[in-house]
Amino acid sequence: METLEAIRSRRNVRAYEPRPIPADDLDRILEAAWRTPSSSNQQRWDFVVVTDRAQLQDLARVWRGAGHVATSAATITLVAPVATDARTRESIQYDLGQATMSIMLAAADLGIGSGHAAVEDRALAGSILGLPEDRFCAWLIALGYPADRPLRPMRRPNRRPFEQVVHRGRW
Ligand SMILES: Cc1cc2nc3c(=O)[nH]c(=O)nc-3n(C[C@H](O)[C@H](O)[C@H](O)COP(=O)(O)O)c2cc1C
Repeated sequence: METLEAIRSRRNVRAYEPRPIPADDLDRILEAAWRTPSSSNQQRWDFVVVTDRAQLQDLARVWRGAGHVATSAATITLVAPVATDARTRESIQYDLGQATMSIMLAAADLGIGSGHAAVEDRALAGSILGLPEDRFCAWLIALGYPADRPLRPMRRPNRRPFEQVVHRGRW
């Protein structure tokens, strides 16, 4: 896909076909995550990729909105250092947001759907992933081929009107 076509086609996909993602494609998606820019190039992230069904089912329990992780073909977990001050936490979250979008667009480019999930139970996520004490699992990005329909550019996405959101020069 062309980049803009991938941007126009990406949507949250929460129901997946059972077929796995080829290892090369999963690696391309992880490469996109790895290449993501970050504040002062600090790269305060690690990506733990999970494909084992039992582990995916366990991960799906970390938040009530994470059910789709259980049936995903793979889930990339975004792991970050535990930070004490609010400014650092905010900056890490900005960087993780960028990594999320890199992952989602690289997946869309390959016709692979993706779906965010938050993490409420950090202790459970940490124990499932075997994280050290100074790291936490911030987000889950579930991946898989869409069960409903292939990714296609959306003519009318569910968004506030373009002219209401875009301000030119001044508010
Ligand atoms: C920060 C963030 C957290 C999200 N958390 C969840 C979640 O826990 N579970 C879920 O099903 N979707 C989650 N979403 C997906 C949003 O609901 C979705 O992106 C939004 O409704 C727009 O729909 P679209 O992605 O299909 O364009 C999250 C999205 C973002 C950006």
